[in-house]
Amino acid sequence: MGLVESVLELASGTGIWTQKLLNIGEKIIAIDASEEMITINRAKLNSPNIEYRQLDLFTWQPETEYNLVFFGFWLSHVPPNLLNSFLQKVYQSVRLGGQLFIIDSRFEPTSTAKNHLLADDGNIYKLRKLNNEQEFTIVKVFYQADELQEHLEKIGFKAQVNVTDNYFIYANCQKI
Ligand SMILES: C[S@@+](CC[C@H](N)C(=O)[O-])C[C@H]1O[C@@H](n2cnc3c(N)ncnc32)[C@H](O)[C@@H]1O
Repeated sequence: MGLVESVLELASGTGIWTQKLLNIGEKIIAIDASEEMITINRAKLNSPNIEYRQLDLFTWQPETEYNLVFFGFWLSHVPPNLLNSFLQKVYQSVRLGGQLFIIDSRFEPTSTAKNHLLADDGNIYKLRKLNNEQEFTIVKVFYQADELQEHLEKIGFKAQVNVTDNYFIYANCQKI
């Protein structure tokens, strides 16, 4: 992919992907709900081409369209009952002819840390224990490639969803 004018990154976190997106977009808008994540991302990348927005993606209202919308390891935290409204807003954010790229974890019993409960039992709530012993319950949904593809197409994208041998699911979509 060549250089595009504008990229929107959702749930940008500490900037692992934001750094890569700097090679693709002239201007990156990076959204995350956490002030701490934004502070780390900003300090690490220190780029005038990134504009940060601290907001909750479940109440976010898209205001403009981008050549590329990207989110990595965020989709699996979107509960199924909010998936449609979230993806509708993502669709609104992609310019006609523009692209959406998603990457996330696929269900793989060996891909989680030892102290993380991971069961393919349809339970979307998982326990996460930090090194300091604090525990949090998070949403973790392993969307299947065919159901995700169907969903993205229903919304209006031309979508191709694939999985890698073990750990990842990724979607390459175009708004046509
Ligand atoms: C698993 S991390 C992924 C971060 C980054 N995309 C990556 O792949 O390294 C999920 C991110 O979502 C952010 N997040 C959690 N809830 C959110 C919400 N409701 N709205 C926006 N961001 C949120 C967290 O702060 C965190 O940075």
